[in-house]
Amino acid sequence: MKKINIGIIGFGNIGAGVAKIINSRKSLLVDKIETEILIKKICDKDLTRKRDVAVDKNLLTNDAYEIINDPGIDIVVELMGGINPAKEFILAALKKGKHVVTANKALLAEHGNELFREANERGKNIYFEASVGAGIPIIKSIKEGLVANKFNSIFGIVNGTSNYVLTQMSKENCSFNNALSDAKLKGFAEKDPTFDIQGIDSAHKLVLLTYLTFGKFVNLKDIFIEGISQISAADIAYAKDLGYTIKLLAIAKKEVDELEVRVHPTLLPSEHLLASVDGVFNAIYVSSDLAGDLMFYGPGAGQLPAASAVVSDIVDLVQDIKAGLFRPTLNSKEDSSIKNLRKIEEFENKYYIRITAVDKPGVLAKISGILAKFGISIASVNQKKKVKSHVVPVVMVTHEVKGEL
Ligand code: HSE
Repeated sequence: MKKINIGIIGFGNIGAGVAKIINSRKSLLVDKIETEILIKKICDKDLTRKRDVAVDKNLLTNDAYEIINDPGIDIVVELMGGINPAKEFILAALKKGKHVVTANKALLAEHGNELFREANERGKNIYFEASVGAGIPIIKSIKEGLVANKFNSIFGIVNGTSNYVLTQMSKENCSFNNALSDAKLKGFAEKDPTFDIQGIDSAHKLVLLTYLTFGKFVNLKDIFIEGISQISAADIAYAKDLGYTIKLLAIAKKEVDELEVRVHPTLLPSEHLLASVDGVFNAIYVSSDLAGDLMFYGPGAGQLPAASAVVSDIVDLVQDIKAGLFRPTLNSKEDSSIKNLRKIEEFENKYYIRITAVDKPGVLAKISGILAKFGISIASVNQKKKVKSHVVPVVMVTHEVKGEL
């Protein structure tokens, strides 16, 4: 029986999950692909840490080049995260004629263009299913299941940490800080959750989803990014009264020959499918011209969901290697129909505004006068109960407005 050797760089939580699946599902995988996948080497800078999987000590090394330079290894699995030296290792592995599997969304979002180009030129592949939505097979679905489609938009909840925080704030009526502390306590937020909370992790994933659906590799700096730290429990409650649920969405939308890419808290109509996606779950809503509107839902993080996606990429590469196939990453050519990336000043949206106003005659008239001066039309106004003497929260929803409020 054919055997394919892989090397894993990064033996953290997901790396251990991959080893677990490859060892425990050996016969299931052999039955399906008639090939044995063997882990030939595992590299990590810390080999003493306790892991929840038993591997032969002889497989372990501190030196990634023992994997990269090993001619017997066909597939390098990069699970160390971060930009450097992960980028250096991937480039070196491609140069040595190896295919690569990675879950490194930050690296691909920032340097994917260069890495995919290098891979294409060398007739090798970089597969990255685990980088968006962990176990949800969203990348394969777009690349393969929806291959004949053109896309109108793709948007979704792609960060579990921030979705957990918003869900807690909504269900427990608690502050952002309390919800975040709770997320950390339960292991749903990292010690430094900046990337998750500020929308940067979502933006990394959006770069990849935009690339797959619209064939455009968007620069991170061209994405409008706003996180969730300014949202209060009151905003969530007021939005609920208006029939909306607040979610942090990553959005890519094409209109004629223009593309809009943005990450920000969004008021979703509460009956929208995405509005009921709670806790650490992820969901991605794809609007396509042939298959229609589809939603992909599941756990967006976690050892086994992410490792399941990594193993699926390894199996795809094993099949390619056996068949002598090279399938370049879809949309390796940019879509020339996109002429412009819209800037925030060109987006047209309805806005939610909360103002803490002095409770006296004429204040509302003054506010609406200022808005009118800037051509902003109000769709609804609600004056809420006083929170302090003399001041009242005023909540407004505008009609479509161009630009950032
Ligand atoms: N930090 C990410 C999240 C994990 O919260 O969704 C998976 O990318």
